[in-house]
Amino acid sequence: MSGQIIKVFDAVDSLMGTFAEELFYFSAKSPDKANVALSGGSTPKALFHELAKPANLDKIHWAIFNFFWGDERLVSYENPESNYGEANRILLSNIRDTRQGIFPVPVLSSPKEAALLYEVKIREIVKQVNNGIPVFDWIILGIGTDGHTASLFSGAKWNEDENPLTFVAKHPVTGQKRISFIYNLINQAQRVTFLVTGKEKAQVIEQILNKKPEAENYPAAKIQPENGIIEWYLDSEAAGLLQL
Ligand code: 6PG
Repeated sequence: MSGQIIKVFDAVDSLMGTFAEELFYFSAKSPDKANVALSGGSTPKALFHELAKPANLDKIHWAIFNFFWGDERLVSYENPESNYGEANRILLSNIRDTRQGIFPVPVLSSPKEAALLYEVKIREIVKQVNNGIPVFDWIILGIGTDGHTASLFSGAKWNEDENPLTFVAKHPVTGQKRISFIYNLINQAQRVTFLVTGKEKAQVIEQILNKKPEAENYPAAKIQPENGIIEWYLDSEAAGLLQL
């Protein structure tokens, strides 16, 4: 791993405002298409609302992006549970420039087929490869209070040969089927950013960043980009137990 950066912000608004600026600078200096995977859940919705503000809609160079999702619930895109659906409703549908690529996870009756189709799409679009694994420019992640990230829950299993990039996950409580990136793919990214807010995440953040024994098996603790940087964008509540 080539480096870890921790940034703490007083409030969610200032975190998301700064992240939006980061995305603008990234878009302004990207020479060509940049492959970016968005996260799901509720945290990124604050980012999507920030990015959907007219000032950001107007200044960000949207055409350079190819948007993917690090994980997706196998529900219809109209369902409020849909990670793509929410990103589209809040942000993507408001972007006038239609030159960006948008690659939602196919939601099919066969989860295995959806995972394989997504893998084919990723390999088709993400041209940079390292050790046979596509290299994303930027992967944005969230974290659960149980230390999961994307839909990598503790104890999840998959066959690396069958699934080198994506796999069919199952939410441990609801049993909801999901498609998720696996570690191989996430850890090849050039930049991985965790967006984490709220005091309910303070304990898992403290455990992971202070490498506590409890965190050893947390999926989020296994996100260690091989050549890229890892960033933690935290609000003061999520960082509340850190001695910084
Ligand atoms: C998902 C996400 C998942 C999420 C965490 C945190 O599809 O749910 O990818 O990994 O990032 O569960 O969710 P919140 O942001 O809602 O706390």
